[in-house]
Amino acid sequence: DLPYTEPYKYKMVESIKRSTMEQRKRWIQNVHYNLFSLTSDQVFIDLLTDSGTGAMSDAQWSAMFTGDESYAGSRSFHALEKTIQNLTGFQYVLPTHQGRAAENVLFSVLVKEGDIIPGNAHFDTTKGHIEFRKAKAIDCTIDEAYDTRLYHPFKGNLDLKKLKIIFDTTPKEKIPFVVVTITCNSLGGQPVSMQNIRAVSSLCKKYGIPVLFDAARFAENAYFIKTREEEFKNITIKEIAKEFFSYGMGMTMSSKKDGLVNMGGFIALNDPKIYKEASVFNIMFEGYITYGGMNGRDMAALAVGLDEATEFDYLESRIKQVEFLGQTLDDFGVPVQKPFGGHAIFIDANKFVPTIPIEQYRAQALAIELYIVGGIRGVEIGTVLADRDPFTRKNRYPELELVRLAIPRRTYSQNHMLYVATVLKNIYDSRKEAKSGYTIIEEAPIMRHFTAKFKKI
Ligand code: F0G
Repeated sequence: DLPYTEPYKYKMVESIKRSTMEQRKRWIQNVHYNLFSLTSDQVFIDLLTDSGTGAMSDAQWSAMFTGDESYAGSRSFHALEKTIQNLTGFQYVLPTHQGRAAENVLFSVLVKEGDIIPGNAHFDTTKGHIEFRKAKAIDCTIDEAYDTRLYHPFKGNLDLKKLKIIFDTTPKEKIPFVVVTITCNSLGGQPVSMQNIRAVSSLCKKYGIPVLFDAARFAENAYFIKTREEEFKNITIKEIAKEFFSYGMGMTMSSKKDGLVNMGGFIALNDPKIYKEASVFNIMFEGYITYGGMNGRDMAALAVGLDEATEFDYLESRIKQVEFLGQTLDDFGVPVQKPFGGHAIFIDANKFVPTIPIEQYRAQALAIELYIVGGIRGVEIGTVLADRDPFTRKNRYPELELVRLAIPRRTYSQNHMLYVATVLKNIYDSRKEAKSGYTIIEEAPIMRHFTAKFKKI
């Protein structure tokens, strides 16, 4: 077998700025050790997120010129609508400006105070839009997902027993839907198997509860189904996606991930009644139903992006690049979550720097060190993000203290990945010297991670 390689070449490049360790020490101190507060020029390799940070293709850029900016009935909307219908099987499409906006619009119709919404580790904004409506998001992911060293091919799977307990103890009207997040971002970009989706769907059907997909990385999920579930070995990504979507009532989508565009989102549904009600909220919050916060040209680029993102060759090079980073780190002995996720590698800070007291934000400390040593920006997924308990105001200590390295699509080379791994290895080799971390000197009442100020201890 020949080695895999990217099915594209570069036509345009963007400079990124190198800096010295002395400069980075100063810059990060000036912003009180909050990585979100750095300017992008102060970052060499930006792995903060894979959301909206990918590179568009020449075909997408060409489509931009054909965008129809009509307020109503835009040709670009109808082209996008057709692409989504073909890809997902859902008949009704509402564009929104990004994924959380799709949640806001759809949940305005479906979620009421006191409702319960089970799912597989709901993404923050999904949970936020549920809790904002005084409803409750309950995590029903399989227990295996929480052991970073354990291999399980589909750590995003839902636990049917956990679901059934909720269904048996909650009146049906209180459960408007079950959210299936593909791939499950909060647990490390871990996929959900087709077998699990089928089982969840049939259990839900028995109880008369619909399934809703949070589909931001659905194409990456389909890739894992194709490569890890024997039955799908010879089935195309597009056919796989069509099958799993057939088990849902609809989807919310952040197009900034597997749409391969920098901004955008949508809702897709089968029920004309829900579509009608959601249309009203879409007009109120987003824009008229044929643009919903998106430019015509951006819808045109998205239609092409959705097609490109569901091609096997692209997905293989994408996932293998993430895997290359994970495998290189693993070979260096750096503790990483396994199996590797579709869009990111997660460093296990509890195993990396157990010498830093847990109250001193060891994952944040590691993320800062990674920036200072290599100019690499990752993001803390640990105690800082977990925030305080809303009632006791005490810090919540999650089971996992992680640093996420999210890989933008079609953006960095294998050499960049090797650079990142080498920087981490150097830090790992001197980890025993790390004895202290940081303390928070200022924080917002919620979502503190974006703006918190830290002091070095
Ligand atoms: N659902 C999932 C699974 C996500 O990962 C995100 C965003 C959203 C919904 C919300 O979409 O950003 O377009 O409003 N995730 C980004 C990340 C922010 O960095 O993981 P959005």
